[in-house]
Amino acid sequence: MTSTSLSGGGSLRGCVRVPGDKSISHRSLLFGAIAEGETTIEGLLPAEDPLSTAACLRSMGVAISPIEAGSTVRVQGVGLDGLQEPGAILDCGNSGTTMRLMLGLLAGRDGRHFVLDGDGSLRQRPMARVAKPLAQLGADISGREGGNKAPLAIRGRALHGGCITTAVASAQVKSALLLAGLGASAPVTVIEPALSRDHSERMLRAFGADLSSDPAADGGPRVVVRPGAVLKGQTVVVPGDISSAAFWLVAGLLVPGARVTIENVGLNPTRTGILDVLKQMQAPVQVLNQRDVAGEPVGDLEVQSADLQAFSIRGELIPRLVDEIPILAVAALKASGTSVIADAAELRVKETDRLAVMARQLKAMGAEVEETADGLIIPGQQQLKGAEVDSETDHRVAMSLAVAALVAEGETRINRADAAAVSYPSFWDDLARLQRG
Ligand code: S3P
Repeated sequence: MTSTSLSGGGSLRGCVRVPGDKSISHRSLLFGAIAEGETTIEGLLPAEDPLSTAACLRSMGVAISPIEAGSTVRVQGVGLDGLQEPGAILDCGNSGTTMRLMLGLLAGRDGRHFVLDGDGSLRQRPMARVAKPLAQLGADISGREGGNKAPLAIRGRALHGGCITTAVASAQVKSALLLAGLGASAPVTVIEPALSRDHSERMLRAFGADLSSDPAADGGPRVVVRPGAVLKGQTVVVPGDISSAAFWLVAGLLVPGARVTIENVGLNPTRTGILDVLKQMQAPVQVLNQRDVAGEPVGDLEVQSADLQAFSIRGELIPRLVDEIPILAVAALKASGTSVIADAAELRVKETDRLAVMARQLKAMGAEVEETADGLIIPGQQQLKGAEVDSETDHRVAMSLAVAALVAEGETRINRADAAAVSYPSFWDDLARLQRG
């Protein structure tokens, strides 16, 4: 495990192209695997999480070309029912998306047996949110703590249709149910309490699935998948990940004299909550070159240092920026006024308990942060002090602490900084380049 030292007081200038969107990368591999024919993926995120998805698919007989930065990845689809029973456990690493989407995909593979496992963090994450609704469709999933925790065993069975109202606005839960619905005996309807990211809906439709959605339906956003359609291999172009761009957006706003352009960022409206919050903070963020790339909106973002106002976020906005809350906590420390994050209890079941970890680590830098049951209260205009901090193995915490270090007095040592490789392997190189200007 590596640590990295950063000093405050430097500059930050230049142009950065963030790596591919993690959510879209997972889905392109998974949908490509169960389609017929070849899927070609441009811009796939070459990070640990998508590599976990690829490794699981390869152990079920799917040929996937090497995944390297800048490479075009080719997936030889085996068809919906072509996945072979693996000879060993499927290791999902640190990736909740891999484990939850695999549960949905594999539950209906009749007569085959699968075991899903992951690292220490993933073994602590709740899986009943997927396993229970899948059981309503006839799935047979068991595991520790009544089927809630990995390792999880799946006995593939023929699934039936149904209408499921999910308890949380989670794209992982929704996507697992849609994948199960592709091969069920009747349609599967998913109703969410609030709209979560819709990459699965967009991409499944592009692959030929019979799927309709109504984000404004009475009773909550609704998606229906009807079984029977044959998925056909596609060309997928993965845009840059707005969740990775978020670190540069906030760093560009906070570091005095900074000016940063972030190219090719995915701007799907179910993901752009952070831009709404930055507007609330009166941040000068410009969206340039807006375009549509393979069914997803994309643009470039330009940002420069500015005085910021405090923000208040809650409710339906939270699923639209759920992964950006750690870095927004850092932005709040420098704003005028007190910022409030509420309705964000989901953060407690991410790769780490991100509310507790961010509060603990920012306090180590001298910050005043109040942790509530479902959020954080953060007074602004605080001066951070360089300190020894720890990602606690969480990629987004590592990168958020790096941005905090840039505006702290003195030197900060970030332990377990290599966690960033889960979603952004070139983060530290990009940071060094922007610091050189
Ligand atoms: C993801 C959905 C979100 C997000 C995660 C990726 C996805 O999780 O936090 O990083 O790709 O579907 P939830 O579904 O748990 O909200």
